[in-house]
Amino acid sequence: MKSFALEPIEKAGVDELRALQLKRLKATLQHAYANSPVYRRKFDAAGVHPDDCRTLADLRKFPFTGKADLRDAYPFGMLAVPRERCVRIHASSGTTGKPTVVAYTKNDIDTWAGVMARSIRASGARPGDMVHVSYGYGLFTGGLGAHYGAERLGLTVVPFGGGQTERQVQLINDFRPDLIMVTPSYMLAIADEFERQGLDPRACSLRVGIFGAEPWTNDMRAKIEQRVGLEAVDIYGLSEVMGPGVANECIETKDGPTIWEDHFYPEIVDPDSGEPVAEGGFGELVFTSLTKEALPIVRYRTRDLTRLLPGSARTMRRMEKITGRSDDMMIVRGVNVFPTQIEELILKDGLLAPHYQCILTREGPLDALTVAVEVAPGVAHDGSDAKAAADRLAHHIKSFVGTSARIELRPAGGVERSLGKAKRVVDQRRL
Ligand code: DLL
Repeated sequence: MKSFALEPIEKAGVDELRALQLKRLKATLQHAYANSPVYRRKFDAAGVHPDDCRTLADLRKFPFTGKADLRDAYPFGMLAVPRERCVRIHASSGTTGKPTVVAYTKNDIDTWAGVMARSIRASGARPGDMVHVSYGYGLFTGGLGAHYGAERLGLTVVPFGGGQTERQVQLINDFRPDLIMVTPSYMLAIADEFERQGLDPRACSLRVGIFGAEPWTNDMRAKIEQRVGLEAVDIYGLSEVMGPGVANECIETKDGPTIWEDHFYPEIVDPDSGEPVAEGGFGELVFTSLTKEALPIVRYRTRDLTRLLPGSARTMRRMEKITGRSDDMMIVRGVNVFPTQIEELILKDGLLAPHYQCILTREGPLDALTVAVEVAPGVAHDGSDAKAAADRLAHHIKSFVGTSARIELRPAGGVERSLGKAKRVVDQRRL
């Protein structure tokens, strides 16, 4: 079967890959400069021209692109092709104001379906498998991105989308899909619903889950794998760069998503200074698209924090599982705190369930952090065992994260479920 085998570029040596990247990078910079007034202005202002890019290292001479560039050009001002050549629009709703709009030519959709098919295959799927897609369909890139890739690979797609959790469970039971594609937090909600219906999620047909769109820890991976009896792999992506399928873990190693470097060129920079960090250093992930037509993206600041790792299952480099976004970083009395750090500690306690929210309030001049967390099913949230678990969690947060937190125990179902990306931080400081 043709799509069973790896693509030649997935097996290419590093020299071949770097040569392809440089060729594509030069073409992308020329295309952006010639056809997008926004990029022309930005390059001119920085005193750089696409001809200044002779090696991959020259990319650092070019200016960054940020969410603000897309917002300022709302809705279609960044396009490098006439709007009429775009066959699809997606948008991500920001927390404030206008959404970020992205667009795709027919070739872009084709490229995207290709990297998604590659991602799903790397996750262990084979043509003929059935996949249940619970990522939202619509303006969000998750559902349609997964859908086109799965069809390309030759899978039977169940395009469920988010929500209607009771029916999700019914269809998973009746259709017996091999794979599920969903946010890790919504997977837990689906697992809860299995149990509510008196069914054991471990007994269901699912063999692999392709989870992403939000940060999740390796402890969460272990929890989901054990609860649902499947292999959990990490898929990464963002609308501005393409959508899901910028990087995906290989099931044989599960050691951080492999970046599909023939289409997306990664850099890590210091989030404060914007300077490139030393090889293997931790910082903000920056991407340049290498093949996109409608919306070439040059040095896009993702705000996602990670480091680049050498290739393992493929020659292409990997990214370490994302710790968090700089946007989600809470500063509590001077201490930097990520929700994933709290998640790890919650998951270590069998009396607590991995449904949680970090609530920030102001007490006088000081910030205060409350962690609202559910007790595990069958545990009384107001009982002494739960109280002891809360004390342990507060103690662990203090010693491992370095900040004081108040723990608010909630009964099962007491923390708001999201049907897609979980909202981990609730900032009430400005209310
Ligand atoms: O969330 C695309 C996607 C859909 C990826 C389905 C994976 C699966 P946006 O809505 O633009 O696009 O949000 C992108 O989500 O910058 C990260 O902060 C976060 N994110 C996405 N995947 C992961 C992941 C989609 N695997 C933003 N781990 C990104 C951690 C992730 N964070």
